[in-house]
Amino acid sequence: MNTPVNQTNPSSKRMLAALQGHVTDRPPFWFMRQAGRYLPEYREVRSQAGNFLDLCYNSSLATEVTLQPIRRFGMDAAILFADILLVCDALGQDLSYQEGEGPVLDAIRSAEDLTKLNTNNCDATLAPVYDTVSRLSQDLPKETTLIGFAGAPWTVAAYMVEGRGSKDFAEPRLFALRDPDGFQQLIDILVEVTTEYLSKQVQAGAEAVQLFDSWSGQVPAAGFEAWCVEPVRKITAALKEKHPGLPVIGFPRGAGPQLTTYMAKTGVDAVSLDQSMPVDWVAQYVQPTGTVQGNLDPLAVVAGGDAMIDQARGIVEALHTGPFVFNLGHGLVPQTPPDHVEALSTWLREGAQ
Ligand code: CP3
Repeated sequence: MNTPVNQTNPSSKRMLAALQGHVTDRPPFWFMRQAGRYLPEYREVRSQAGNFLDLCYNSSLATEVTLQPIRRFGMDAAILFADILLVCDALGQDLSYQEGEGPVLDAIRSAEDLTKLNTNNCDATLAPVYDTVSRLSQDLPKETTLIGFAGAPWTVAAYMVEGRGSKDFAEPRLFALRDPDGFQQLIDILVEVTTEYLSKQVQAGAEAVQLFDSWSGQVPAAGFEAWCVEPVRKITAALKEKHPGLPVIGFPRGAGPQLTTYMAKTGVDAVSLDQSMPVDWVAQYVQPTGTVQGNLDPLAVVAGGDAMIDQARGIVEALHTGPFVFNLGHGLVPQTPPDHVEALSTWLREGAQ
């Protein structure tokens, strides 16, 4: 049995108590991409809004779609509705979301291209996001924790340099190899704007923040500390200095055994686990130093039934002896039947036995 990291009085909110290092009566739960296309009411609002960026910058509609899954399923936490690439738009990089293709950006391929970015104007673009956070902090049920988020610098830089989604993100990896100083300049810009962005979310009412490093698994082991650990360490330290006690969750997807280094060196309170992480290994090597969150295969929720609940039970049995938040290994996918999310939520709310 693991020892809780923190012996102080737990927050009355289950999610915050778990992030403080406490073992809770039942695991708190939320799901990455809990707002989104698998919900008919999301698709309805999305079509009203026009394009995806318009939805992100419309604080009344963004508040509504954040609340939709909470109303249906009663998760312990709501995650602000926005996107990790809004900071690219705020920096002046051309960004659009194309149907069926995902994000498309005006790619940055060299240190000279960095002069196109402007760090002084971010607030003008991002103000509606802060407004969404403050509306949510009014509108959410009192037991629900509000999570703010941003992309971690490596992952945001990966999209900025590649210019679109990719299976291997060869362009940013080559940039980092050929011109590490130039690439570091991009990372430094992102550390600065991400710290400011998250700090303003906290000022507006976010109670915890998550840094998504969806593509850290593409970084070679030799670059992991420089590109995935150090930027997150800087952001976490700056945030905790401004907001003492703020819980920070890191999600270095695909980091594998480097999770232990990540947890030890970044200073995050919690790590989110992708579905490839063996939970017994996590219980032994990661959880003694912090809270863990995860890690049901999103496709188990597409399958539903015993396949879903049996896998979920295995995770809870391995990890609920220490500080733990139930989540998925990655986001809910659009083909997920809402009934399966309902069945999983009911099972979790009733004690996950
Ligand atoms: O409910 C939530 O989780 C909150 C909102 C949220 C979105 N994106 C909304 C979204 C969050 C936390 C994100 C994070 C995000 N965005 C990540 C990190 C997590 C991950 O999935 O790895 C990344 C890499 C992005 C960038 C991004 N945004 C991509 C690659 C895409 C296209 C792929 C896709 O699923 O369509 C998006 C679009 C996006 N972001 C959608 C949503 C609901 C779908 C857009 C739509 O409605 O048309």
